[in-house]
Formats: sequence, C-alpha cells, structure tokens
Amino acid sequence: MLCDLAKLGMSHCSDFKNSFVDMSHFLVTGGAGFIGSHLVDLLMEEGHEVTVLDNLDPFYPAEIKRANIQAHLDKSTFRFFEMDICDRDGLKDRLGKEAERKPFAAIIHLAAKAGVRPSVEDPVGYHEVNARGTQNLLEFARSFGIEQFVFASSSSVYGVNSELPWNEEIGVSRPISPYSSSKMGGELIGHVYSHLYGIRFIALRFFNAIGPRQRPDLAIHKFAKKILKGESIPVFGDGSTGRDYTYVGDIIKGIRAAVEYEGSRYEIINLGNNHPVMLNELIERLENVLGRKAVIDRLPPQPGDLPLTWANIEKAQNLLGYCPSVSLEKGLVKFSTWLQGNS
Ligand SMILES: NC(=O)c1ccc[n+]([C@@H]2O[C@H](COP(=O)([O-])OP(=O)(O)OC[C@H]3O[C@@H](n4cnc5c(N)ncnc54)[C@H](O)[C@@H]3O)[C@@H](O)[C@H]2O)c1
Repeated sequence: MLCDLAKLGMSHCSDFKNSFVDMSHFLVTGGAGFIGSHLVDLLMEEGHEVTVLDNLDPFYPAEIKRANIQAHLDKSTFRFFEMDICDRDGLKDRLGKEAERKPFAAIIHLAAKAGVRPSVEDPVGYHEVNARGTQNLLEFARSFGIEQFVFASSSSVYGVNSELPWNEEIGVSRPISPYSSSKMGGELIGHVYSHLYGIRFIALRFFNAIGPRQRPDLAIHKFAKKILKGESIPVFGDGSTGRDYTYVGDIIKGIRAAVEYEGSRYEIINLGNNHPVMLNELIERLENVLGRKAVIDRLPPQPGDLPLTWANIEKAQNLLGYCPSVSLEKGLVKFSTWLQGNS
C-alpha cells in the first residue's frame, strides 16, 4: 500500500513545480462551491487571473457560495459569471469574450449536481448538468482552442466493486446511481474530445472530500451541526460502511498538479487517501473532536449508497506527485474550527 511505501521513505511524493510561471488565466466552473472555492483561493494566491462560472445552484444556499468567493469579488484579476453550464449560447457569447480577451490556459470543470442520494430523485437533471453540461464545456474548449481540461469525476463510478483498493484500470461499467452514471458520461465524452480534437482531458476521481466549507448535505457537516445542537444524527445502515475521506487541501494539490500535467492526452486519476474509515469510527472521531456524544437515529441503508470506497493512489503519486498529508483527525479539527467560527 502507498502509505506503507511512504513510511519506508520510498514515496515518490514531491512538491510539484508550477510551469505556468507567468500569470495565466484559468476558468474554474463550480468555483463558488466547496472544492472549487479552495482552488480559486490557491490560483489567486499564485497571482493568476481566475474566471469563475457558477450558477449558484439552489442545492444549498447561494449565500454560502457567495461567501466562499467573497474575498475575491473586488479584485481586478477575478471575474464571476453567474451562469449555467447548460446555457450553450451564453457560454459562447459571454465567456467567449473572456477567452478572446485573454485565452484560458485550462478549464477546471468542477460544476455539477453533486451527491448520490439526491440524484436518485432527479436522474434526468443530473445527466443534463453533469454529462451534457460537460460536453458543452468541451465544445467551448474546442471553439476557443483551450487545450487543457481537468474534470471532477468521482469515486462513485466504481460502483459496488470488490477489487479493493480501486485502481483506475478496473472496469466501471456497472454504476448504481444516476450521479455515478452522469460522471462516467463526462469521462467518456472527454475521451472523444481528447481523441478527435486534441484536448488534454484529465478526469480526477475524488474520494469523499472533507474540510472547511464542506457541503452541508455531506455526512460530517450534517452530523457535526446536529451533535453540537444535541440533536440525534441519522445513521443509515449498521455503521459498517467505509469511506476513504480525503482532505480538501490535498485534493486541491492534486487538481493543481493535473492542471500542469503534460503527459498523455487522456488520463483518469484517483485522488483519494488510501485509508478507508468505517462510519462508526468516523462518528467516534467526530465526537472526540467536538467534545460531545452523538445520539444515533439508526435508519435503513439508502439506495445507491456504496458499502465502501477505497482509492489506490499510486497513479496520482506517479503522474502528479500527489501525496495526501492531512489525516482524518486533522481534517476534522480544521472542519470543526471553521464550522464553529461560521455558525
Ligand atoms: N465533495 C466531494 O466529496 C466530491 C466527491 C467526488 C466528486 N466530487 C465532484 O467535485 C465537484 C465539486 O464538488 P463540491 O463538493 O465542491 O460541490 P459543490 O456543490 O459545493 O460545488 C459545485 C458547484 O457547481 C455549481 N453548479 C451546479 N450546477 C451548475 C450548473 N448547471 N451550472 C453552473 N454551475 C453549477 C454549484 O452552484 C456549486 O457551487 C463536483 O463536480 C462533484 O461532483 C465531489
């Protein structure tokens, strides 16, 4: 396992170097969201120009998303387009002007309808945004000569698969939720555009991101709020499901390295932690960090949920110098500090 290699000092992990030494212009879709806004912070800190496209989708409150990017709104190197990726004409007309003003060095496409459970209620909407919307952006890239495209895919594409830990070579043709099939759709259409039109397409399969600004629908965020209020937390199943929780800052480093990647024209790369933790254990750790006991409301397992996610991250390590360094414990502390400072 990678972690064992790292312990033995055999890791290939290294700090990646920016080849975009000059100020570049990046398009970040979904840049007002949880993961996107952290990436925007980093790119702005590095001195680049950043254009964010986000429709402030009502899945969770728009004011949270506005707050995520608030610090940049008055900067001359930052632009925000409140737009839907399904609006093809809008992309061409409004964003096209931005691309003509200063070409985008890369598109980092994170906008999506996120979440497995809500996708079960809205399969068409998920497909429309996550698969068709991705194609719209690829068309935009094709029209404006943008050669680097980084796509947020998901561990959920692996479905129920016992070949653990999951590596990128194993078959993923049996998705079990509309969310996962929509992400697979994005990966597949990306291959077509890389093959036919020479766009370098890097699909990053994120595994359970944790940290400040985490989406309010995700378990850690939901649980923490309820535990702090003394309310019971809904736990689906017997607590034996496992997740490969990955600190958002580590994921951002992986995305940033993918933006620089100049190898083959198409890659799929896991960004996980290689260390799954069972739900019962997660709750215990959260209780320790918050200093309060949880009251558990035990409910039946949810359709579309996976029993376990577990990333093999050797490819990310080899191609991107990726090496997650923030433990679950530290990630929970950072999240809790942020949550309690924002509620
Ligand atoms: N958070 C995770 O653990 C995780 C895991 C796997 C994959 N992902 C993927 O990573 C990406 C970012 O996830 P996140 O957790 O930051 O979610 P998020 O919901 O916080 O961010 C997604 C952003 O996309 C925007 N958006 C949604 N529909 C849009 C549309 N039609 N047009 C324009 N913008 C739109 C939303 O307003 C939001 O700001 C998503 O593609 C998600 O599927 C996330």
